[in-house]
Amino acid sequence: MLPNVLRTNAADHVPVLADEVQRLLAVRSGETVVDATFGAGGHSRLLAADLEGRGKLVAIDRDPTVRSYFDQVKASAQGVQMRFLRGDYAVVLGQLASNDVKADVVLLDLGLSSMQVDRPERGFSYATDAPLDMRMDPSEELTAAEVVSSWDERELASIFRKFGEERYARQIARGIVRRREESPIERTGQLVDVVRASIPAPARFGEGHPAKRVFQALRIEVNHELESLEHGLPAAFEMLRPGGRLAVISFHSLEDRIAKRFLRDRARGCTCPPDFPVCVCGREPELRIVTSRPVRPSAHEVESNPRAASARLRVAVKV
Ligand SMILES: C[S@@+](CC[C@H](N)C(=O)[O-])C[C@H]1O[C@@H](n2cnc3c(N)ncnc32)[C@H](O)[C@@H]1O
Repeated sequence: MLPNVLRTNAADHVPVLADEVQRLLAVRSGETVVDATFGAGGHSRLLAADLEGRGKLVAIDRDPTVRSYFDQVKASAQGVQMRFLRGDYAVVLGQLASNDVKADVVLLDLGLSSMQVDRPERGFSYATDAPLDMRMDPSEELTAAEVVSSWDERELASIFRKFGEERYARQIARGIVRRREESPIERTGQLVDVVRASIPAPARFGEGHPAKRVFQALRIEVNHELESLEHGLPAAFEMLRPGGRLAVISFHSLEDRIAKRFLRDRARGCTCPPDFPVCVCGREPELRIVTSRPVRPSAHEVESNPRAASARLRVAVKV
């Protein structure tokens, strides 16, 4: 294992559950690793070191700004063949699988990197006023400002409820529609104001920032995050060789539910009704779940990196 100081790329993004990922994925020299959410390459750097100078690492990210981190990791991993593929991992993994590219390890560390949250101009943060953007891939057309200015009240309420689990979804959607009739909502600060004004006073001072769930919902909608996960998991599974390991780190219950359902479904054998005397479905488990419960960060990790607090890691092996 590398000492902590080598775990980060620049001071930008600290890889979460790094020891656990490294231990459970147990990368061996000569294997092929796919890091489908490269970010600042924190996990890639560790997994590339485990390849011990022999093997391949494919890095995927839809955000073009991570390219310089990839160059740094590549320079530090002498002997490892490394490729960067820019795009939505659901699409890229699907293309790799249909071209019969095989992997021993696929890692999905979902959500945003610290670089995306901490650069105000990306518009992900409710803490600083900036254009309401939220695209992980800036070449995509749909921005959060577009959603807020053109989705109708029912659609807005539905995404706040579904993707943000926001209790005051209807009130906030109504507040947005009223406000935008007066003037366009184009900045994060304006959206925060509308959220605050639309919810009951006690909720403004409840747990966490009052706009947190609305920002999460918009981000998921703008980047089609749940669709990517729904399509990316089967593609990742298809790429794996027998004995290959799949790891998913999620940061909220919607993602974790999708990962859990996928792994459980593939790990299930016979699905015949219990009163059948013999199995007629012939279904065999395709995965073995390694983490019967999701792995959570230690108190020590959360103390040094509060962004790890909601992380949950699930790992399975292809049988
Ligand atoms: C939490 S960060 C990954 C951090 C990385 N593991 C590290 O240690 O530096 C998530 C990254 O995945 C990327 N990402 C999220 N959804 C994606 C998708 N559907 N396709 C490709 N990249 C995606 C984001 O742009 C971001 O850079």
